[in-house]
Amino acid sequence: YQITELPMADKKAEKAPLKVLTKAEKYALLEEKNAKALLGGGKKRIEAQHARKKLTARERIALLLDEGSFEEIGKFVEHRATDFGLDKQKFLGDGVVTGYGTVNGRLVYVYSQDFTVFGGSLSETHAEKICKIMDLAMKNGAPIIGLNDSGGARIQEGVVSLGGYADIFYRNTRASGLIPQISAIMGPCAGGAVYSPAITDFIFMVENTSYMFVTGPNVVKTVTQEDVTAEELGGASTHSSKSGVTHFASANEVQCINDIKRLLSYIPQNCEEDAPVYEYLPENEVRKGLNNVIPDNPNQPYDMHEVIEQLVDEDSFFEVHKNYAENIIVGFARLGGRSIGIVGNQPAALAGVLDIASSTKGARFVRFCDCFNIPLLVLEDVPGFLPGTDQEWNGIITNGAKLLYAFAEATVPRITVITRKAYGGAYDVMNSKHIGADMNYAWPMAEIAVMGAKGAAEIIFKKEIAEAEDPEAKLQEKVDEYTAKFANPYGAARRGFIDEVIVPEQTRAKLIKAFKMLENKVDTLPKKKHGNIPL
Ligand code: HXC
Repeated sequence: YQITELPMADKKAEKAPLKVLTKAEKYALLEEKNAKALLGGGKKRIEAQHARKKLTARERIALLLDEGSFEEIGKFVEHRATDFGLDKQKFLGDGVVTGYGTVNGRLVYVYSQDFTVFGGSLSETHAEKICKIMDLAMKNGAPIIGLNDSGGARIQEGVVSLGGYADIFYRNTRASGLIPQISAIMGPCAGGAVYSPAITDFIFMVENTSYMFVTGPNVVKTVTQEDVTAEELGGASTHSSKSGVTHFASANEVQCINDIKRLLSYIPQNCEEDAPVYEYLPENEVRKGLNNVIPDNPNQPYDMHEVIEQLVDEDSFFEVHKNYAENIIVGFARLGGRSIGIVGNQPAALAGVLDIASSTKGARFVRFCDCFNIPLLVLEDVPGFLPGTDQEWNGIITNGAKLLYAFAEATVPRITVITRKAYGGAYDVMNSKHIGADMNYAWPMAEIAVMGAKGAAEIIFKKEIAEAEDPEAKLQEKVDEYTAKFANPYGAARRGFIDEVIVPEQTRAKLIKAFKMLENKVDTLPKKKHGNIPL
């Protein structure tokens, strides 16, 4: 956009008596208003925005949408407030640019808050504009993308602005599971403003220029005496690694917008459709490298990313929540050109154990995929749930149950590959046959048992070991016995809990065929209002 200050005689125009315009003057007026709306809060504030390394609301939309595809809605909306001198400060559009357009040819609805107008704060009319396009997005079944850059509720407007937020939250909730909802945080996002993004499916933040918190550093200082900067309290790295509030942290706004476009390429327009299918020409699907990923020593870690990279279509893995709860990996990929969601334990972080954070991370991802018809692939190497007071006191029972519930509830095609360990309750939870998985494979190195051999031997042979002449040797003998019996996939395969034990190099070919076989899967939940996931 060409940003130039326009020679407009607003003040004079305001004072001039109303007059009937000629046709030419009517065209000129429209042109003038259109040009004025493009300027938002004016040239100075746009420069200030750029100086903060931030793009304007319109520049962001231009980057996001296909060239020339944006159709604006509500460009001339103005606020209706009169208190605190607001009747003398009006800006066309009222601090948010809304409309629709396409990303790679697919329809999306978008709103982009304009920080140059009252700090992008949310007035009654600003909220009405957002609600209008949310309603359109829901009725027409296309994703809604919110580009947030706002000082929160428009303070001068009082309760109508709070009401405006609630109107948005209500729609976010109604739209949940119906259409994908994506939030990018590209500036401040404070107070109740964080709760709309929180209800949406994915949050993107930009390093160093965006932050989210319920109360800012000043209130924190007053209430808890903590000294903390805005960045530490609610910046992109905090929320992408410590809290998990954001799913993605991008280095800058351009990367953030590119990441949003990439995400869109894996997901459908709405819950009734399938994700786009990319052209894929069958090739040699054998992946010899997979035979060497699992170390000889079963206690040695390896990186599950290596498995993922070799299984999926080249460079197609798009990781979600990359820096949060790294003991579980979640993300989208393509297999034979089709979108899948991957949930993998990560032996390279905390031995891939399930804890509170990894369970909730996994559960949220599984539920997104299930809402939007994206088949699930689970790569399992899990020693169990993490023991300890910290986990128990903070509710590993309730939180672990979220992942169990999410898998058990999912009706999309579901496949599990046990690459190595599948111990205890975690075996059940990680998309086992018993909770509805369609196909369960195991590699020959798989160990499927109630618990690790040493722990098991110490419990079941306690007396025998204590009474032995050489308890150490006895323990080892019993550990070996237990290992020989259970540290393999064949007990499970005998019972049909594992459909096939496969050589790792065959896995990609097996998965492509199995997902194709499951393409027309129909599975429905019993009729009910909705389930009650343990929150
Ligand atoms: C009206 C606002 C505003 C707001 C900023 N502005 N926030 N106007 N309502 N909430 C205006 C400023 O007056 C200023 O106008 C312009 O936006 C830019 O703001 P600055 O303060 O100059 O910018 P900066 O230094 O970058 O600071 C940005 C900021 C700060 C961190 C966002 O403005 C700020 O703290 N604002 C208030 C945040 C807040 O407490 N909001 C209410 C949260 S409560 P001029 O004319 O000078 O350019 C809430 C409840 C919602 O949101 C509940 C829903 C459930």
